[in-house]
Amino acid sequence: MSILIKGGRILTAADDYVGDVFVEDERVTLIGESLDVPADRVVDASGKYVLPGCVDPHTHLDMPFGGTVTIDDVESGQISAAFGGTTCHVDFIIQPKGATFADAFDEWMSKAEGRQVIDMGYHMAVTDLKDGGTLEELATLPDQGVTSYKLFMAYKGALMVDDETLFRTMQVAAETGALVMVHAENGDAIDVLVRQALAAGHTEPKYHALTRPPETEGEATNRAIQLARVAGSPLYVVHVSCRESVEPIARARDAGWNIHGETCTQYFFVDYTFLERPNFEGAKWVYTPPPRAKHNQDVLWNAVRTDILSVISTDHCAFLWDGQKTMGRDDFSKIPNGGPGLENRLHMIHEFGVRQGRISLNRMVELLCTNPAKLFGLYPRKGTIAVGSDADIVVFDPKKRHTISAATHHSKSDYNLFEGTEVTGSPELVLLRGQVLVDGDELVAKPGIGRFVQRAKFGEELKPERVPA
Ligand code: URP
Ligand code: ZN
Ligand code: ZN
Repeated sequence: MSILIKGGRILTAADDYVGDVFVEDERVTLIGESLDVPADRVVDASGKYVLPGCVDPHTHLDMPFGGTVTIDDVESGQISAAFGGTTCHVDFIIQPKGATFADAFDEWMSKAEGRQVIDMGYHMAVTDLKDGGTLEELATLPDQGVTSYKLFMAYKGALMVDDETLFRTMQVAAETGALVMVHAENGDAIDVLVRQALAAGHTEPKYHALTRPPETEGEATNRAIQLARVAGSPLYVVHVSCRESVEPIARARDAGWNIHGETCTQYFFVDYTFLERPNFEGAKWVYTPPPRAKHNQDVLWNAVRTDILSVISTDHCAFLWDGQKTMGRDDFSKIPNGGPGLENRLHMIHEFGVRQGRISLNRMVELLCTNPAKLFGLYPRKGTIAVGSDADIVVFDPKKRHTISAATHHSKSDYNLFEGTEVTGSPELVLLRGQVLVDGDELVAKPGIGRFVQRAKFGEELKPERVPA
């Protein structure tokens, strides 16, 4: 199968020009002006943007969490991703307490088997180094393409690890070339605040935010940065939500340390007041870290503009409002934490980042495609449009109007974080390794088309795969 995409505005992190892209046998094989080559399909992309497929390094599909399981499995989550122009993501294997990393890896691979619609990799979330996985076993994961370790510094009594586990994992990463990712919040202090709030009879969703003040995020971010310095490992701070955690990352990067950070789409648009909505509606926005005071939104735009933060992810962790979020009607601490978002990252960042003049188109590509691919060992196969790269391509219509809604999104969630938001600009054609995933409003791809990608170690490139003759 070959496709010739003609006359589009080709955008990468560095380039912006009008040209033609020829795709054959899964890869981009020619880029030029007025290419005259026979192709199975010719796409007229004049007036359209030709973008690399977006890479989302932070999702939670089919994950047991908060007394339930996230509502999107690999198939529904990845279909949702494809409609939003995301062609590769990195999800989290959660090591069940007491289990080996090998067993956890097998379990998560079998959940994905035959259901994949886009390409994917896995991070390993380390929860237990005492009774299950060992440091020696952890050290073997990068050679299997699992080149990032994730640690939760919050969710006490569930996923939270102590500082010894965090620090020892960092030491392993320093040896093996893995990237350490942290959910940075002080879980001990938050646990005290949650218990005190409940004892005082405070049960509504807004107490989710009031018991997780921004200082608890700032403290944990700084602690993780300092520990990574001692261990000598690279560090990536996930879902940065507020000034208190942006500041230590800014200082670390200014000093030239190997520290990286992401924020997520929702933190630019949803603020604390959403949690105050009546009739338990606020539970829709119970995710962690919580929606913050509005002034943080400018801090985050500034941070992504100036490369204090290098990535915008979704932290897609979808639940039903009716039936899952409602488990916490009488106790905010029982509301499963998380929200949907995989489908709308490109819509929202193009509309409110690019169209409203906060970031350039090139920077948008860098934040949604190139930087996540580079940091997580997928570049240059993913995250750019270049000869030899996987033909993961989005033909994006910058004039197409779209209203974001749960009525039309592809996640199984019964609500959308950005319900009713009108955007101008939407993916029109989405290719994964040269195969059509989405054409207009139609899903063309069949589950099974996506693959597990063995990622390169931190700082190394993932070379284009030789396609069998
Ligand atoms: O509320 C969230 N973010 N749920 C997903 C788990 C996590 O902390 O990333
Ligand atoms: Zn988290
Ligand atoms: Zn997450």
